[in-house]
Amino acid sequence: MKNRYLGNSGLAVSRVCLGTMTFGNKSWGCDESASQALLDAYLDAGGNFIDTADLYAETVSESILGNILKGKDRDSLVIASKCWFPVGDTPNARGLSRKHIVEACEASLKRMQLDHIDLYQIHGPDPYTPIEETMSALDDLVRSGKVRYIGCSNLYAWQIVKANAVARQCNYAPFISGQYLYNLIRRDIETEILPACVDQGMGILCWSPLASGLLTGKYRGVDIPDPGLRFKEVGEILNDRFIWKEALELVDLVCEIGQDLGKSPVTVALSWILKDYAITSVLAGARNVEQLAPSLESGEWDLPDEQCERLTAKLPREHGYPCDWMKIALLPNFTKTEFEPNRALRFPPLIN
Ligand SMILES: NC(=O)c1ccc[n+]([C@@H]2O[C@H](COP(=O)([O-])OP(=O)(O)OC[C@H]3O[C@@H](n4cnc5c(N)ncnc54)[C@H](OP(=O)(O)O)[C@@H]3O)[C@@H](O)[C@H]2O)c1
Repeated sequence: MKNRYLGNSGLAVSRVCLGTMTFGNKSWGCDESASQALLDAYLDAGGNFIDTADLYAETVSESILGNILKGKDRDSLVIASKCWFPVGDTPNARGLSRKHIVEACEASLKRMQLDHIDLYQIHGPDPYTPIEETMSALDDLVRSGKVRYIGCSNLYAWQIVKANAVARQCNYAPFISGQYLYNLIRRDIETEILPACVDQGMGILCWSPLASGLLTGKYRGVDIPDPGLRFKEVGEILNDRFIWKEALELVDLVCEIGQDLGKSPVTVALSWILKDYAITSVLAGARNVEQLAPSLESGEWDLPDEQCERLTAKLPREHGYPCDWMKIALLPNFTKTEFEPNRALRFPPLIN
């Protein structure tokens, strides 16, 4: 399994991270013994990076992870978790207050039977808590040794930059990673979030890299998915998020390219994401070892340039304003040097 540094940090992680949202999920997930088999297959493939959250399976994912990590070489692993979603009915059992962050982290450590979390991420933005309070609480967790690094997920780009500016100003630990929805169908982050993370020296971890299973190609020609599959159980969320005419045509192209190259569409779709060195890891989700196998293959296999370009061109991201304006006003006037300096490389429309 190939490794990458997580942003500007010195933390080396596998480019395929094991997602654990399926662990303990009764409707579209797997039980503890299947979770154990997934972990074993992932470690056998040389992976070192595991992502969970207190939310997953209503905290059961973390408990299962704690049980199945027993006997493993914990120090060789990078274990990530998250807080923010409600874990109880009371007003403070959610969000990013100092009270909740500290209590959530301690509860996660207890469930996972660990003494520290390597990457602790805020799962979303809390508009009700000052970012200074959040960054100070996260920094305390780092200084106390309960957490090694911090990251964020699902923040707006301006919030990422503001949070890290506060951290710099106050000498707090900054975010070293952003965890975001990114796949061949949903490329929203290319406009603002990906450039913000690159600017901040943050690695990017991609969730739902297979569009919750759509990019496997298994729904082609299927009207109603089978029970137990994600698109059956939470279809009201996923249909709007991933399914429209051009997206389905993109799935066809992924399958066609997979067939030409003798690879699973899964391996092709994940390897397309990993072509971009701004991306650190894809988060692989699976219900069983058979599903995980082609995801693990993308930890080693690189998509050839030609097929990568075909996929990139199939459903290009429309950046809208102000990118449109810059195409007219900035491009003809500014790009006059021999090559683009690094600091401009992630500035749409200077790229793509
Ligand atoms: N930060 C966040 O807000 C956030 C949000 C979501 C997820 N995450 C993280 O990202 C991880 C991955 O997310 P995800 O599960 O949505 O990823 P995904 O890769 O888009 O979807 C995984 C699902 O696709 C299907 N699948 C995977 N491989 C397959 C194969 N070879 N053949 C057929 N079906 C296959 C399985 O679902 P079915 O069998 O049900 O079809 C599997 O559970 C999670 O575990 C979690 O760690 C984070």
